[in-house]
Amino acid sequence: MAEDQKRRRAVVTGASSGIGEATVRSLVSDGWSVVALARREERLKALSEETGCEYFVCDVTSEDSTAAAVEKLTAAGPVDALVNCAGGALGTDHVDVAKIDEWRWMYETNVLGTLRITQKLLPAIKEREGSVVVISSTAGIETYPGGGGYCGVKAAEKALARALRLEQVGEPVRVIDIAPGLVKTAEFSLNRLHGDQKAADAVYAGVPNPLTGEDIAEAVRWALDQPAAVDIDEMVVRPRAQVSSTQVYRTE
Ligand SMILES: NC(=O)c1ccc[n+]([C@@H]2O[C@H](COP(=O)([O-])OP(=O)(O)OC[C@H]3O[C@@H](n4cnc5c(N)ncnc54)[C@H](OP(=O)(O)O)[C@@H]3O)[C@@H](O)[C@H]2O)c1
Repeated sequence: MAEDQKRRRAVVTGASSGIGEATVRSLVSDGWSVVALARREERLKALSEETGCEYFVCDVTSEDSTAAAVEKLTAAGPVDALVNCAGGALGTDHVDVAKIDEWRWMYETNVLGTLRITQKLLPAIKEREGSVVVISSTAGIETYPGGGGYCGVKAAEKALARALRLEQVGEPVRVIDIAPGLVKTAEFSLNRLHGDQKAADAVYAGVPNPLTGEDIAEAVRWALDQPAAVDIDEMVVRPRAQVSSTQVYRTE
């Protein structure tokens, strides 16, 4: 087998910031060849210049965009792993006043985006006895006020991962669900809170050592590094200060 066929190759969605960006760096450092996907090309280009990763612009809510990216990246090499990071939250409204469009955005991006890209890459991944990773959330395990929409989409991602694992039993693929708690990334809360930096900062205020994107990237790297027959089905990773979605220790 040619040297470049032996080198493991991962596709990371949501690679232009936060957990996805950190995962690209972590996997590249671990010797993986990495393909970074997201919508913002200038950020992908900078990451590529820094790490040597390949990149393709890809909107996971678009059938045409995902089909084009998958065609190009599978023509360029094998796929040993897909890390589904693209996603996020929008709004914190209670259910009685929640905005339909915000929930629709969350379902389109987190759930259908993960479905769309996973479906398209599954055959290539199975050719390599590879892995599908879903970055869900502790929000998919426990609900909190103002989280009806986001908790719902993260629960749906967890269900997708579980069903896929059941359906593929005996097939050469493993399905890994990593559920982070509070991760302090630059854009997650800012986007959720419609660009209100003060409100975004308050999410992490006084929390000693919230998780970082690098913490979750390390969980992804470790899970993928296990022997192919070992499936880390589900991993919950929280900061020590956060014992549940609603109980967080703060110094202020
Ligand atoms: N931060 C947390 O506390 C936390 C906790 C648990 C789980 N998570 C989950 O972890 C994942 C990453 O979160 P993060 O904190 O790293 O957030 P982030 O920094 O906001 O990253 C979100 C990523 O998704 C991409 N994205 C958004 N819409 C997209 C679309 N339509 N097509 C393609 N890519 C799209 C964004 O890139 P472009 O805008 O360039 O497309 C960006 O790279 C999300 O699924 C989030 O729900 C986060």
